[in-house]
Amino acid sequence: MIQKPRGTMDILPKDSKKWEFIEKAARKVCKKRGFGEIRFPTFEETCLFSRGVGDTTDVVQKEMYTFIDRDGTSYSLRPEGTASVARSVIENGLAGDTMPLKLFYIINCFRHERPQAGRYREFYQFGAELFGATTPTADTELISLADDFLKELGITNTSLHINSIGCPSCRPQYKAALVEYFSANQDELCDTCKSRLLSNPLRILDCKSPICSKIAADAPKTIDSLCTECSEHFEGLKARLDAIGIKYEVDSHIVRGLDYYSRTVFEFISEGIGAQSTVCGGGRYDGLVKQIGGPELAGIGFAAGINRLILTMENGSAYKEEESSVPLYIAALGEKASVKATEICALLRNEGISAETDIVGRSLKAQMKYANKINAQNTLIVGDGELESGKAQLRNMQNGEQSEISLSDINELINILK
Ligand code: HAM
Repeated sequence: MIQKPRGTMDILPKDSKKWEFIEKAARKVCKKRGFGEIRFPTFEETCLFSRGVGDTTDVVQKEMYTFIDRDGTSYSLRPEGTASVARSVIENGLAGDTMPLKLFYIINCFRHERPQAGRYREFYQFGAELFGATTPTADTELISLADDFLKELGITNTSLHINSIGCPSCRPQYKAALVEYFSANQDELCDTCKSRLLSNPLRILDCKSPICSKIAADAPKTIDSLCTECSEHFEGLKARLDAIGIKYEVDSHIVRGLDYYSRTVFEFISEGIGAQSTVCGGGRYDGLVKQIGGPELAGIGFAAGINRLILTMENGSAYKEEESSVPLYIAALGEKASVKATEICALLRNEGISAETDIVGRSLKAQMKYANKINAQNTLIVGDGELESGKAQLRNMQNGEQSEISLSDINELINILK
C-alpha cells in the first residue's frame, strides 16, 4: 500500500468546500484593496532562500527540501512566498512600476518539520505583500487586510500581537544587550538556543522550551532600544490601529523566524488549536529586495496558514457548511431514454444549470436511491412511455409535488429550475 508522504494531506471533496470558502474570502478582501494575484514557481534556486530568508534561520538550516538538478544547480521547494515574490518583482521589472505595488498569493509551501496538529511538511498559505511604502499607514493597511480576512471567515477567537524589532541602525545595540543578558544564563539555555546566542539571539525570545521562555521573560525588550525613527514608526502604527478599532497587544516576544524583518512584526494567535497557534504572521522587510540583488524597495506583508485557519474554523467560527444539492436528476430507462436524458442534461448545463443522469447503467430503484444521495431537488423519470408522449413528470423532492413538462421544449424545464 503506497501512502502519502509524512506531514502531507489529501484534501477530499467533503473538505475542499472549506478551502474554497477561505480562498474566496482571500480574493474578496484583496480585491477591496487593489491587491493583484501573483503566481510563481514551486521551486527556486536555493540561494534565493539562503540570502532572502536567512542562513541562520531554522527554515533554511534545517527545513528546506533541497535537491541538485541534472545541470548541477541547487534548487529548493519554496518554504514560504515572500522571497519568491521579491525575486519576481525584481526579475519582471515591477520595482519600476507605479508604487505601491500590492500582490497576493495562495500557495503550497514545504518545510521539513516534525509533523503535529497544525504543523505539516506541505502546507498552504494565503499571503499578501505590499512594496514601495515605508509609512505606518502601509503597515496598518496590511494588518487590517489580515484582520478583515479573519472576520470574513467568521473567526473571532484570535488576538493580534505586535512588536517592533528595530532597523539595522538600532538592532545591533539591542542584540548586544540581548547577548549580554542571555550569556549570564547560558548554561541553562536549551542546546538550540546556546547556538542561537551567537548566530541569531533574537530567536531565543520565541523559544518554546519552558526554561528558555522563563529566562526570556525578563530579557531586554526591543521596543526599549528603538531609534527615534523606529519608535515614531511604531507609535504611528499603534495610533492608526487605535483609530480603526483593531485591538492589539504589544508583545516583545514576537520576533518571527525569518531574517528579513525590520521594524514592525505581528502575529494573529488563535485560541484552542494547540501549540501551533499562530494562524497568521508577517512584518516589514525593508532590506529584502536589496539583499537579493534588487533596488532599495521597502516591503511589508503577511501569510496566513490555511491549514491552521481550518482548525480554527472547526474550533468555533460562524462558518456553516452549505449542504450541496443538484437541481435535477434524470432517471433514464432504456437506451433511447438515456440518449434523451444525456441531451437534456447537456442543454441544461449550457444554461448554467447542474443536472445529472445515470452513467452507470443502474435499475430505476438504484437510480432513485442515487438521486436521494446526491440530494437532487427535482427528479424526472424518462422511459419509453415518456418518449412516446413527449411529456414527463417533474417531481419536486422537497414537497413531493409533480408537474408535467415537455421533453421537446426544454425552456419550460429551464424556467422551473432557474
Ligand atoms: P511564517 O510565520 O513562517 O511566515 O508562516 C506564516 C504562516 O504559515 C504561519 O503563521 C502558519 O500559520 C503557517 N505555517 C508555517 N509553517 C507551517 C507548517 N509547517 N504547517 C502549517 N502551517 C504553517 C512566512 O512564511 C512569511 N513569508 C510571512 C510574510 C509574508 N512575512 C512578510 N510577508
